[in-house]
Amino acid sequence: MQVSIFGAGYVGSVSGACLAKLGHGVTLVDVDPHKVGMIHRGKAPIVESGLPEMIAEGVSSGRLTATTDADAAVRGSDVSIICVGTPSMANGDLDLSYVRRVCQQIGEAIARKPETGGSRHAVVVRSTMLPGSVRGVVVPTLEKSSGLEAGRHFVIGIYPEFLRESSAIDDFFNPAITVFGADGPEIVSVLRQLTHGIASEEVVVAVQTAEAIKYANNAWHAVKITFANEIGNICKAADIDGHEVMQVVCKDTRLNISPAYLRPGFAFGGSCLPKDLRALRRKAMSLDVATPLFDATMRANESQIRAAFDMVERTGNRQVSMLGLTFKTGTDDLRESPLVELAERLLGKGYELKIYDQDLKTGMLIGSNLEYVTSRLHHLSELVAPELDDALNHGKTIVVGKSDPEVRKALIRPRPEQHVIDLVRYNPQMRTNGRYEGICW
Ligand SMILES: NC(=O)c1ccc[n+]([C@@H]2O[C@H](COP(=O)([O-])OP(=O)(O)OC[C@H]3O[C@@H](n4cnc5c(N)ncnc54)[C@H](O)[C@@H]3O)[C@@H](O)[C@H]2O)c1
Repeated sequence: MQVSIFGAGYVGSVSGACLAKLGHGVTLVDVDPHKVGMIHRGKAPIVESGLPEMIAEGVSSGRLTATTDADAAVRGSDVSIICVGTPSMANGDLDLSYVRRVCQQIGEAIARKPETGGSRHAVVVRSTMLPGSVRGVVVPTLEKSSGLEAGRHFVIGIYPEFLRESSAIDDFFNPAITVFGADGPEIVSVLRQLTHGIASEEVVVAVQTAEAIKYANNAWHAVKITFANEIGNICKAADIDGHEVMQVVCKDTRLNISPAYLRPGFAFGGSCLPKDLRALRRKAMSLDVATPLFDATMRANESQIRAAFDMVERTGNRQVSMLGLTFKTGTDDLRESPLVELAERLLGKGYELKIYDQDLKTGMLIGSNLEYVTSRLHHLSELVAPELDDALNHGKTIVVGKSDPEVRKALIRPRPEQHVIDLVRYNPQMRTNGRYEGICW
C-alpha cells in the first residue's frame, strides 16, 4: 500500500519505519522541516533503539520518504494515518488543534484526489483521543474540508498505538493484541492489509470502543504502577521486601494477574476485602505512609453502592425486590455485603422491600454473620420472600444482585411495568427495552 503518515514524532516515525519494513511505500509528513530533513538524510528524528537503522534502510530502499507537503502525500497514497500529538491543556482536557489541522489538510487533499479505480481513500487514526473524538471532531472536520461524506466517499478507522518508548519497534511488530476500531468491512480490510505480517490476536470493535480501550489500557497501567508503589511504600516502612511481595503476588495468575475482578459491575464486599483494606490503611497510617490509592478505593466502592441506590430511586417505584443479599453466589455470608448496605439504605428511605436469596436461610444464620445482618436489617425474616415468585410479584423495581439460574430464567420475561436493575449483567440484550438497566454497563 501507499501510506502517508501525519506526524513524524515518536509514534509516526516508528510506525512509518516499521510499515516500510513490512513492504509498504511510506511518506512521513511533518510541519517541522528539521524532522523531515533528518528522515531525508536517513536519520531518526527521535531517540529509539533500532530506529536509526530502520529509517536508513527504509530511505535507501526507496520505501520511506518524508515531506512537508500534505497535499502531495495524500494524493500519492491510499491510506493516511494520523499520528500527531494530542497534548494536555491546562484544565486536563485534550488539545485537538493538531488533529483538527491535519484533518483539514487531509480533507482538502482527498477532495482534490483523482478517483483511483473505485478504491476509496482511508483515514486511520493512531493519535490517542477521548471516546467520541472521531465522531465529534475527526469526521466533521474531514467532511467539512473535503465536501465529501465519511463512509461514502472515504473510509475511516482507528488503529490504536500501544507501543512503549524504548521498546517501540518490538512492540510494533509483536503487540499483545491488534485492535481495529472500524464501523464497516472496507476499513477492516485496509487495516488488515496495512498490518499484514504482524502476528498477534486481532480484535475488531466499534470506533468508540477502540477509543475507550486505549484509555482503559493507560488508566490500568497507571493504577498498576501506583498500586505496586503503595504496597512497596508500606512494605519498606514495615521492613519487608516489597519486591518479593509483588513478585509472589504476580505468580498468582488465577486471581491476581488475570481477568478476575476486572468486569465492570457492583461494589466489592464480604468478610475480607473491606476489612483487610481498612486494616492495611490503618497500618500504613501508623507507619506515616500515605495510601491515596487505597483511600480512594474505599470511597469509589462506596460511590458504587450509592450509584445502585440512585438507580433504584430514579425508577420512582416504592415497591422494590432484591434478588440476592449475601455477598456472592454460593455463600450465606452477609458480612459487609454491599447488597445488605443497599437494602439498609432502601429501608431507611421507606421503600417497601422484599428480598429473595436462594443461599439465605435466615433460621440458620449464626455467629458474626447473624450479628452483622441483624445490626443492619433488624427484621430480616419479615423482609425475606420464601419463593422467587413472591419477590417477583412484589417488586415494581427488581434489583438483581447475584447470579442464580432460577433468577435468569425469571428475568427473561419481567412484567411490562417492572423495571429491572441488573448488577450482575444477566441479560445485556434486554437493555434495549428501556426498563432493563445495568450498573456501569
Ligand atoms: N509516545 C508514545 O509512547 C505514544 C504511545 C501511544 C500513543 N501515543 C499517542 O500518539 C500521538 C502522537 O504522540 P507522539 O509522542 O508521537 O507525539 P510527538 O509530539 O512526538 O509527534 C507529533 C508530531 O506531529 C507533528 N505535527 C503537528 N501538526 C502537524 C501537522 N499538521 N501535519 C504534520 N505533522 C504535524 C509535530 O511536528 C510532531 O513531530 C499522541 O496522541 C499520543 O498520545 C503516543
